[in-house]
Amino acid sequence: MREDFLMIDITDRVLNAELRGKITTAEEAALHIEPNMNVGTSGFTPSGYPKAVPVALAERMKKEPFKINLWTGASVGPELDAVLASVDGVNFRMPYQTNSEMRNAINANKVQYQDLHLSEAAQLTRYGYIGGGTLDVAIVEACMITKEGYIVPTTSLGNTASYVKQAKKVIVEVNTTQPVEFFGMHDVYVPEDPPYRMPLNVVASDTRIGKPYVECPLDKIVAVVPCDVPDNTRPLGAIDDDSRAMSKNLLDFLDAEIAAGRMPKNLLPLQSGVGSVANAVIGGFVDSDKEHLTVYTEVIQDGMFDLIDAGKLDFASGTALSPSPDGQKKLYGNFDFYAPKLLLRPQEISNSPEIVRRIGVIAMNTAIECDIYGNVNSTRINGSRLMNGIGGSGDFARNGYLSVFFTVSSAKKGAVSSIVPMVSHQDHGAQDVDLIVTERGVADLRGKSSKQRAKEIIAVSSPEYRDQLQDYFDRACVATKNADKPHLLNEALSWHVNALEKGTMKK
Ligand code: COA
Repeated sequence: MREDFLMIDITDRVLNAELRGKITTAEEAALHIEPNMNVGTSGFTPSGYPKAVPVALAERMKKEPFKINLWTGASVGPELDAVLASVDGVNFRMPYQTNSEMRNAINANKVQYQDLHLSEAAQLTRYGYIGGGTLDVAIVEACMITKEGYIVPTTSLGNTASYVKQAKKVIVEVNTTQPVEFFGMHDVYVPEDPPYRMPLNVVASDTRIGKPYVECPLDKIVAVVPCDVPDNTRPLGAIDDDSRAMSKNLLDFLDAEIAAGRMPKNLLPLQSGVGSVANAVIGGFVDSDKEHLTVYTEVIQDGMFDLIDAGKLDFASGTALSPSPDGQKKLYGNFDFYAPKLLLRPQEISNSPEIVRRIGVIAMNTAIECDIYGNVNSTRINGSRLMNGIGGSGDFARNGYLSVFFTVSSAKKGAVSSIVPMVSHQDHGAQDVDLIVTERGVADLRGKSSKQRAKEIIAVSSPEYRDQLQDYFDRACVATKNADKPHLLNEALSWHVNALEKGTMKK
């Protein structure tokens, strides 16, 4: 706990006189949070989440144990998820997480978790489907508060604007490590709910439809808290040969699409999922001949900065900047260079299925496993154990112009095949998947029947498992008399049981 937060001078960042009078400690601010309250926070990936009040709250929970219901934009940093999970302070969590302590608490039934499409989370709370529609307290990070009292967010926008609108009380953490130059990078727009919702007039990744700040009635802001803890970003894994091969496979495929007249030369707006593989794939575009690329995505990772450096990316819009520690240094060290090419939107807009479908996004996400017919599991190891959550992958996969899933053909150092007869849990139905890309090649599933898809997918599986998969398929065809999608149910499930027994997968 930081007792000295008040020593941090934020008066030059809080330009509104009334709100200056509300500057207080994290401990005082945390007293607004009571047992069983619904608490909504800023933050999306370890970016732009509150870092002082949650730590103070966790300290209080150590002395007087109680729990809250925690709503965020998506995953957040350890100063929020880990500290609250470690004191058993969360009863319900939504809509996405990646923190190991929170994940373990969820898998140990200490926290009830609702995994949601990230475009939908805010509206579901507004509809009253979650927490009875009551948001007691919103805690949001800002780089400054304007003279008028407008909140200027930082490295993510996520659900901030919607939560501020809904909350009974708002606590603003003013983070002095975040440059005030963020003012202007956000495009804040909260859609009305049906039947009053209007069309979202976003026609390209650089279209603006909102305001550069979050508005909030001054009397709702109950505390303004100084904070000097930077985003706790994670290093990216080194780009390995498999990722490089997947990236090349996709780029070759896209070249053929351009040649066939199915895509313009500068492609269509790119969406790229989270993690090292996704970053490596974007890295592949740096060495390609592609130019004037645009990005309409959820998370802007290091690879996008590299594309800007290479002069290949005209504009990127997302809901979070999620650089690695090295990427963070690069961004903050050259803010004036990168900022004009970046825009952060609420996740309802960055992931809007309607916009994604209309502007024709190339959706690129990662699978944990996929089956021989193209169904994808992105979230549950061995069907049960939560990894992270579906995140925005469903928003983009269902609606993309081209829906791509990457997976290395085997996991756990080759001990399990990532291509299986039947997924142990399904996030994306085969109808939402156009391509499966492994290091072995591209399975093009467009315009193909289930059995034609199986042929494509088995061809890009690991050679170690290919015969076994082919044998399963052949026998399933015989047993079902070539039914539309042949399966041997007992065997499909025992595939996973066998992997479990080999000790290669976590229970
Ligand atoms: N069987 C069993 N375990 C598997 C597996 C398989 N076929 N494939 C991967 N795993 C395990 C890995 O071993 C690793 O386990 P560990 O943490 O115990 O080491 C874990 O799953 C993550 O795999 P990794 O190779 O590190 O993948 P990643 O960092 O590229 O992440 C996802 C892959 C699917 C977990 C990640 O992309 C994700 O959470 N996706 C869903 C959300 C999403 O797509 N968001 C983007 C939308 S914009």
